[in-house]
Amino acid sequence: MRFSLLPKLYNSPARRLFPPFHRRILFNYMSTGLPQLGKIGLFQCEFSDSWDKCWDEGLTPWDLGSPTPVLVHLHNTGSLPKGRALVPGCGSGYDVVAVACAERHVVGLDMSDIAIKKAIELTSSSPNAEHCTFLKTDFFTWSPDQLFDLIFYYTFFCAIEPELRSLWAKKMSNLLKPDGDLITLIYPVDDHEGGPPFKVSVADYEEALHPVGFEATQISENELAIAPRKGREKLGRWRRSLHRASL
Ligand SMILES: C[S@@+](CC[C@H](N)C(=O)[O-])C[C@H]1O[C@@H](n2cnc3c(N)ncnc32)[C@H](O)[C@@H]1O
Repeated sequence: MRFSLLPKLYNSPARRLFPPFHRRILFNYMSTGLPQLGKIGLFQCEFSDSWDKCWDEGLTPWDLGSPTPVLVHLHNTGSLPKGRALVPGCGSGYDVVAVACAERHVVGLDMSDIAIKKAIELTSSSPNAEHCTFLKTDFFTWSPDQLFDLIFYYTFFCAIEPELRSLWAKKMSNLLKPDGDLITLIYPVDDHEGGPPFKVSVADYEEALHPVGFEATQISENELAIAPRKGREKLGRWRRSLHRASL
């Protein structure tokens, strides 16, 4: 039942390849039973290996093969902050290079060595390549020298185990400048069981982000979602409102 739902979730031509990927990731989720901090270390190596295998075997049903349309739209309409941007879990790096420009340096981060190599290969001939940096590292343990004006990601929140969401939010808050923008694509908004990808809702984001001081400045249907994801994807923009932060 669970496997039969998965093709609908990512909806790419590679969807028939999803079940083996899912089984492997699920196995690793189930094999961890440690307290939270120790668990992250375990996630780091087990997940890194699993994601790497997905990339190595071409089991990447989430990959659009092009930049995320709504991100390109925000870039083209001047609706993204300049300065330093971060794309965690960047995969093939299409989004990284799509919004990189002379006024905005973009860091693409992924824990899979193979994804990062692929991203560098795919983007190196782009005129914007000089405005990008790709890093193979774990989002949860990485500490950069400088903070970011913008963080954008797609299919990353749904890829991590729900119990890590508060750590995810704390990390977002630690990586962004106090007045920085967090742009989230909230997907998949549905009611399937299990994961990854895990189902998500606006309330899940609020539950994670409110305690670290983020408030939504925009939540709307993503009208530019690819056809199979339409109706199950929202655009969320968040900013820190420091008086609410309790951490
Ligand atoms: C479902 S894929 C999405 C890739 C890309 N955002 C896209 O939409 O095409 C999730 C990506 O997050 C990466 N990832 C998962 N956990 C991570 C972590 N803790 N730190 C960095 N990258 C991570 C995986 O290697 C994988 O490439």
